[in-house]
Amino acid sequence: MNQDEMKQKVAEAALEYVVPGTIIGVGTGSTANKFIEALGSIKDQIKGAVASSEATARGLRDQGIKVFDLNDVSGTLSVYVDGADEFDEEKNLTKGGGGALTREKIVAAASDKFICIVDETKKVGFLGDFPLPIEVIPMSRELIAREVVKLGGRPVLREGFITDNGNEILDVHDLRITDPKGLEAQLNHLPGVVTNGLFALRCADVVLMATPNGVVCIE
Ligand code: A5P
Repeated sequence: MNQDEMKQKVAEAALEYVVPGTIIGVGTGSTANKFIEALGSIKDQIKGAVASSEATARGLRDQGIKVFDLNDVSGTLSVYVDGADEFDEEKNLTKGGGGALTREKIVAAASDKFICIVDETKKVGFLGDFPLPIEVIPMSRELIAREVVKLGGRPVLREGFITDNGNEILDVHDLRITDPKGLEAQLNHLPGVVTNGLFALRCADVVLMATPNGVVCIE
């Protein structure tokens, strides 16, 4: 089974976590896109979805799924389904390879349960091999970059990329993240940081990991 087929399998496995009659949160990226396609097959069972990016909103509408603004949803979303760039054994994640980290974090925070769908290539001992994205207000970019260097990171501006929120992304290389919760909080306190791609303070509740032999559920 190749990586694409593994993404397909894990996306289909996540359908089991969709709560009928509710509004769900939907993530961004190639694995989430496969989930969106699969969700189309059971679209009549849900009220609709909140999207974590403009691209996901378009994908959901293409499947005939109603897209809600989070502000128009009273209470929490039943479940949030999204991919990740890396995960560790405690279900801490690095996300934001697709640049949607801020809206992803908002939708995850608004959801009762976070189901992370990945293939086995995303599993790591320590987060940090994948460059950590930080969404920054453009005028603060260099200030934040200098602070990140002090923490041992090597920030690289994601050239030619503007987020759905009109901001820039610094991808931070060379970090070996031994305290994901601490680093997430520390980075988010820097003035000008919108958010960073660590999902540790609100980690996944369940990681569904595709392997060539099937999907493994990590709870
Ligand atoms: C999008 O901003 C990301 O957080 C994605 O969830 C993450 O990059 C995983 O994407 P893939 O499923 O394409 O690997």
